[in-house]
Amino acid sequence: LTDITALLLSRIRDVADYPEPGVMFKDITPLLADPAAFTALTDAFAEVAERTGATKVVGLEARGFILGAPVAVRAGLGFVPVRKAGKLPGATLAQAYDLEYGSAEIEIHAEDLTADDRILVVDDVLATGGTAEASIQLIQRAGAEVAGVAVLMELGFLNGRPRLEAALDGAPVEALLTV
Ligand code: PRP
Ligand code: MG
Repeated sequence: LTDITALLLSRIRDVADYPEPGVMFKDITPLLADPAAFTALTDAFAEVAERTGATKVVGLEARGFILGAPVAVRAGLGFVPVRKAGKLPGATLAQAYDLEYGSAEIEIHAEDLTADDRILVVDDVLATGGTAEASIQLIQRAGAEVAGVAVLMELGFLNGRPRLEAALDGAPVEALLTV
C-alpha cells in the first residue's frame, strides 16, 4: 500500500448489515471529516482529470457531488451534476438503469455539455456499474466524450469494471482502492 491508499483505507468505516442484512456498507463520512484524507483524495482525482485531459467533471448524485465538486475546483474545470430523475428544471436527457430490484432513472442538463467537452465521471463507489454506465450513456448522448471514470472504491466482486470498459472506448476506469 502507498501512503495515500493506506490513509484513505483507514478513513473508510465498514458498517455491517446496512442498509439491509448481509450488506457491508462502506461509509466515507470519516474520510470527509478528515482534512488530510479529503485533500489527498481530491488531489488524486484532480491528477486523473489532468492526465486524461478532462474539460469538465460530472458528479453522480449524491456522494459523487461531494467528491466531484472539489476536484473540479482543484483542476480548474467546470462541474456538471447527474441527478436522480425529476430534480433538474431545464431540458434534460434521461437514462434508465437496472437496480437489484426494479429500476432507476438519472438526468443531465444537456446544454451543459458540448461536443468539445471531455468528461471525467466521479463517484465514490463502483459496484455493479449500473449508475456509472448510465452516466456514460448520458454524456455520450449529449455529444461529449468521456475522458475517464474515477472512483474512490471499486467492489471488484460485483464486476462493474468490464461493463464500463465496454461502454468507454479505451478511456480509463481509475479506482484508488479495490475491495
Ligand atoms: C451508490 C454509490 C454509487 C452507486 C454504485 O449510490 O454511491 O453511486 O450506488 O452502485 P452501482 O455501481 O451498482 O450502480 P446510491 O444510488 O446508493 O445513492 P447515493 O450516492 O445518493 O447515496
Ligand atoms: Mg451514489
